[in-house]
Amino acid sequence: MLNAERLRASLPIYGLGEPLYFYPNIGSTNDRAADFARQGSPHGTLVVAEEQTSGRGRAGRYWFTPPDSALALSLVLRPQGLTPETLGELTVLGALAVVEALENVSIEALIKWPNDVLIHGRKVAGVLIEASWLGNELEFAVLGIGVNVRPKSVPPEEEIDTPATCVEAIVGQQVDRHDLLLDVIRGVGKWYPHLGLPEMLVAWDQRLAYRGRMVKVQQLEGEVLGRVQGLATGGSLQLTSENGEMIEVAVGEVHLRPVDMSSK
Ligand code: BTN
Repeated sequence: MLNAERLRASLPIYGLGEPLYFYPNIGSTNDRAADFARQGSPHGTLVVAEEQTSGRGRAGRYWFTPPDSALALSLVLRPQGLTPETLGELTVLGALAVVEALENVSIEALIKWPNDVLIHGRKVAGVLIEASWLGNELEFAVLGIGVNVRPKSVPPEEEIDTPATCVEAIVGQQVDRHDLLLDVIRGVGKWYPHLGLPEMLVAWDQRLAYRGRMVKVQQLEGEVLGRVQGLATGGSLQLTSENGEMIEVAVGEVHLRPVDMSSK
């Protein structure tokens, strides 16, 4: 079981994690963090749960968080100047923070554009941003992060559309979830001042999954097939089509899949 006092002793980190609200069991940490934000809770408020009974993923999907096995956390953020078009930068920030925390336990994870965290092609973590707007002004954002740590946290194959894994399956031994959680917070805090700046794009590009591979990107307007080249300004994905033409896919409601079978 996570120990809230142990976490509290190392918080705040870069101004994040104070106050900390810890729940052995909750519906969704994102919902609770949004409630606190609406009541005026400050930037950096952190909600952590041991178990979620209605954990939420992107596109309304269910996010599996059984007890004693995962990380489920949500941060209240109050960034200046973000617009609906640039809100996605917060998702990238969350994914980068997870990737760097995993590097500390010697795992090389990659980011499936735009923001799933993969190890050997299997999803290990997800990021969900939810925002409240006052007209065009961002009132607050909730950055929700879920990480599969122990084998119990990996959802049954029949319930998911992306193959999944967990940190301990890769490391081959128990991982301290306190340290991992604190490292994720550290990563968010470290990248926060660089939100949307070229250095963040470079760090993201360096961790891009499927580089050189053929992928299919499903967009609202239809499907795009191409070989992954890297990121373009603004976080668009650059692909080359089969006849060598350069294609740019903007971040939006998209779904990316490799079309060949190897999983790296
Ligand atoms: C995804 O679909 O990849 C995003 C998953 C995000 C899950 C996290 S767990 C903590 C926070 N609370 C939620 O209900 N969802 C996010």
